[in-house]
Amino acid sequence: MLRSLLLYLSGARWAKAIITHFFIARRMARRFVAGETMAEAVAATRKLNAQGALVTLDYLGESVVSEADAQQAVEQYFAILDTIAREDIQATVSLKLTQLGLDISEDLCLANMRRILEKARERHNHVTIDMESSDYTDRTLRIYRTLRHEYGFDNVGTVIQAYLYRSEKDLAELRAEGAFIRLCKGAYKEPPDRAFPKKADVDANFVNVMRAYLANGTASPEAHLAIATHDPKMINAALEHIQAHSIPKERYEFQMLYGIRAEAQRELIRQGHPMRIYVPFGTHWYPYFMRRLAERPANLWFFINAFFRG
Ligand code: FDA
Repeated sequence: MLRSLLLYLSGARWAKAIITHFFIARRMARRFVAGETMAEAVAATRKLNAQGALVTLDYLGESVVSEADAQQAVEQYFAILDTIAREDIQATVSLKLTQLGLDISEDLCLANMRRILEKARERHNHVTIDMESSDYTDRTLRIYRTLRHEYGFDNVGTVIQAYLYRSEKDLAELRAEGAFIRLCKGAYKEPPDRAFPKKADVDANFVNVMRAYLANGTASPEAHLAIATHDPKMINAALEHIQAHSIPKERYEFQMLYGIRAEAQRELIRQGHPMRIYVPFGTHWYPYFMRRLAERPANLWFFINAFFRG
């Protein structure tokens, strides 16, 4: 119930107008967001790199409705790729297709992605296309495949969400294609005819598809899985599988979000596993922040408490 309400609010303009107005909300969002500027994102990246973590930088933004805003996001990603190269930090980039105009037109979005990937290729960098709600899954996979197979970019990956029924089949196909995939549970409000309503089923599916993707045997050698979760049960299942089947480090990495379970991040690094932190920055933090509240009600109580104490 609470999760559904928070996910509804994450997309409601009226709620955004009210909540972003409060200093306390902006301050709490800072737990999950590295800052508003590129300089702050670079500083956070340097700190994480020094601890042995890789980073993927996300310039916050989604659901743009004008070509000018999509163009502005493309230019921001050019600047991020240039900055990563200039500052010599260990970071790739992550982005959302609705930030690049997917709600306006698929062709516009594809053209924008192509320009970003050309720039990333020049800079020897890699781009992960985040996955949004299931209304976008087909279009996201179609754009990903056009970029990868028609335009020949090998520096692009995307995300699969374990809560969707379709994901087992999608992952089997992507594995055969040698895709670079981030597997997560899924963060949006989905209807029961598309996604497992029960957390236990989502968790079981996560473990199943993770094992299948990382099985030895028929995968294309390029198939790579980023195991994106903070859940100790998921992480332990992955560690057992990696150890039991001697999965080499070139085939997997762990990923976690900035500001969540930092000690667990460091522990996996200590154990010698590749670990990448997703570091969002920018001013459009509202929907991202609300999805983080929805994932963990304890965050919400902390927020309400701080709100009433001023
Ligand atoms: P789960 O929600 O079961 O949490 C396990 C434990 O982790 C909790 O008990 C708590 O200790 C901790 N935890 C989890 N979330 C927390 C929070 N917000 N605050 C504090 N503690 C928290 N989703 C999507 O739909 N599309 C995408 O592209 C991505 N991309 C992405 C990248 C990366 C690197 C990560 C780690 C996650 C995503 N996600 C995502 C989000 C993902 O789908 C999911 O909503 C969250 O990771 C929470 O699920 P967990 O697997 O962590 O498990």
